[in-house]
Amino acid sequence: MAGKTVVITGTTSGTGKVAAHTVAELGAKVLVLNRASDRSSAAFNELSSAFPDADLHAVECDLQSFASVKAAAARVGELCTEGVNVLANNAGVMALGDEATGDGFDVQMQTNHLSHFLLTRELMPLLEKAAGASGEARVVNHSSVARMSPSKTLRGEYLEAKGGDFGGDGSGVENMMFRGPRWVRYNQSKLANAAFTAALHQRLQDKGSSVKALVAHPGLANTHLQQTSVKEGGMGSAFTGFFMRFSQSSEDGAMGLISCMCLPEAQSGQFYGPGSSNFAMKGKAEPFALESFYDNPTTRDLLWQKSEEAIGGEFAV
Ligand SMILES: NC(=O)c1ccc[n+]([C@@H]2O[C@H](COP(=O)([O-])OP(=O)(O)OC[C@H]3O[C@@H](n4cnc5c(N)ncnc54)[C@H](OP(=O)(O)O)[C@@H]3O)[C@@H](O)[C@H]2O)c1
Repeated sequence: MAGKTVVITGTTSGTGKVAAHTVAELGAKVLVLNRASDRSSAAFNELSSAFPDADLHAVECDLQSFASVKAAAARVGELCTEGVNVLANNAGVMALGDEATGDGFDVQMQTNHLSHFLLTRELMPLLEKAAGASGEARVVNHSSVARMSPSKTLRGEYLEAKGGDFGGDGSGVENMMFRGPRWVRYNQSKLANAAFTAALHQRLQDKGSSVKALVAHPGLANTHLQQTSVKEGGMGSAFTGFFMRFSQSSEDGAMGLISCMCLPEAQSGQFYGPGSSNFAMKGKAEPFALESFYDNPTTRDLLWQKSEEAIGGEFAV
């Protein structure tokens, strides 16, 4: 990764933190995009202390706000006139309440997908620039086994500005069993991550671009994600404690993401994770093909059209 510029969202904990430390150790210039908080300052101090000679930059970016994403992209442009080799759209939230962002979208859909769609559009000229100079660049999205459960069908209304009107918060029993409206919203956002990858891959290939689109999932990784969900009422604490016995470490969970970001052999249109089934919770990250339940013309076009409408502008690859 020496000589490469990497932009990654959500590095205060979990897979994003592991990935940021990994690429810094491997010699990349690293820009970490996080919303302002004590967690964000502490994480950047830790990264800087671990790699004092690395070229590291903290850029403020709140994925709940399109204005913040645009400002972050502009800052990346100032800091990376050489281009961007890897954009890792990693940050995410899970099973939050039925809340609207300031832009009016479901908090999970805007954080997990729509803001990353906008960030990718804004940074595409820099990705193309790096691809022109070094032969390739990469956009890496972070999905989940939740892409296929409870539904394998992407529904356009979840990408509309109807935040706060998507079924409420569910019962305690539903939330404990990963069922109910909070989990449908998470499912739709993680399905959107995979569908975005499929749609971006196809558009890049059609244009003969050297920018790759890849997607990863971490299985079940022991990160801060579950702690936030428990705190926000999306998971029961006792059951989560039991369930997390079946998890892998955040380092192992980050291997799909890191493989997509770094492996020379990783190809556009590949998915990396510990297997493609519903039960792929742990194990070695291996490549597999994008799946037909989102990699089809109807879903790719739906994802693109609804995402463009949400960000209020065209994303022409
Ligand atoms: N852990 C798992 O088992 C698992 C399974 C499937 C998929 N995933 C996916 O893996 C990705 C990383 O999650 P993780 O497990 O590493 O969880 P994590 O430890 O909670 O990390 C999530 C990161 O996203 C950031 N984030 C959340 N909301 C944000 C916002 N509005 N603006 C900017 N950053 C924001 C968090 O920052 P703050 O400190 O500001 O909150 C944090 O840095 C997510 O996309 C998640 O859906 C995880």
